[in-house]
Amino acid sequence: MESTAVKYKNGDILLGVMGDPIGHSKSPLMHGAALKAMGIPGAYVPLHVKPEDLGEAVHAIRTLGFRGVNVTIPHKVAVMEYLDRLDGSALAIGAVNTIVNDDGVLTGYNTDGIGYVRSLKAEAISDLSGARIMVIGAGGAARGIVAALLQEAPASIVIANRTADKAQDLAAEWSGSGSLAGISLDDMGEHLKDIDVLINTTSVGMYPHIDGLPVNPALLHPGMVVSDLIYNPLHTRLLTESLERGCIIHGGLGMFVYQGAYALEYWTGQTAPVDIMRQTIEESLG
Ligand code: ATR
Repeated sequence: MESTAVKYKNGDILLGVMGDPIGHSKSPLMHGAALKAMGIPGAYVPLHVKPEDLGEAVHAIRTLGFRGVNVTIPHKVAVMEYLDRLDGSALAIGAVNTIVNDDGVLTGYNTDGIGYVRSLKAEAISDLSGARIMVIGAGGAARGIVAALLQEAPASIVIANRTADKAQDLAAEWSGSGSLAGISLDDMGEHLKDIDVLINTTSVGMYPHIDGLPVNPALLHPGMVVSDLIYNPLHTRLLTESLERGCIIHGGLGMFVYQGAYALEYWTGQTAPVDIMRQTIEESLG
C-alpha cells in the first residue's frame, strides 16, 4: 500500500491522542518509537481535550493538518457525532478509538476489538473457530471484544457480569451473529467447566488493587486459555493463579500494542513494527 503520510505538513506526519486526562497515556511513547523505527518523520503528541472542547478539537485535526488521532477515555462515544464517516467497526461497537484524516474528511474506526483478537491469536490460540468463550464484564471493552470475536466463528460466547441485565442486553443485541448468553457472576461456576477461553474485561486486579480476582481460580481447568485485558501489572493475580493451574495465559499488553498497530497502519499505509512497540512499553513498565 502506498504511504499517504507525505501529503501532510511538508512530509512530516502529525499524529496524537485525545483524552481527559491524558498525562499517563503510553501511546505517545509507543507510537514515537514506531515512527522512528519506520523511518517516518513526524510526531505523535498527547492532546488534553476537555469534553466541552471536543467538537473544536476534532475540527482542529483538519485545520492543523493532523493525519490522524487516537481517541481515549472519555471521548470514544461522544466523538462520533463530529466525524464525517464511520467505519463498520465503529458502527458495530458504537465507539471510535482511531480517526483518519483524508484531505479533511474524517473517518472513525475502532481498532480495540480487532487489536485484541489479533493479539489473542498471535500469542495464545491461533484458531478461535468452534471455541467456547466466556467474557467477564459487559462494558465498553467487552462490547468491542465480543464484536471482534464473533468474526472468528466461535461455538458460543457467554457474557458474565456483576450486573446481569447488562450481560443479557449485550448478548441479545448480538444474538443474530452467533450463540450468545448473558449470566451473573454467581452463575459462572456451572458454565466454566465447558469453557475453552476465559477473558477478563473488567478492571478487577488492575493496579493499585492488584489482589483483586474477577473469578474464583478453583473454577479454572488445565489447558484453558485465560486472558486478562489489564496490562498494569503485566501479570495480574488472575494470570498468576491461572498459570499455577495449568492454564495458557494471555496478558493485556498485546491488545494495547495491536490496537495501536492497526491505527498506525491506517495512517501510514505501512506495516507497524509491533515488536518494537511492545518492547518500548514493556521497558517503560519496568
Ligand atoms: P470499560 O470500557 O473498561 O469496559 P465500563 O464500560 O465502565 O469500562 O465497564 C466496566 C465493566 O467492569 C462492567 O462490566 C462492570 O460491571 P457492572 O456492569 O456491573 O458495573 C465491571 N466491573 C467494574 N468493577 C467491577 C468489580 N469490582 N467487580 C465486578 N465487575 C466490575
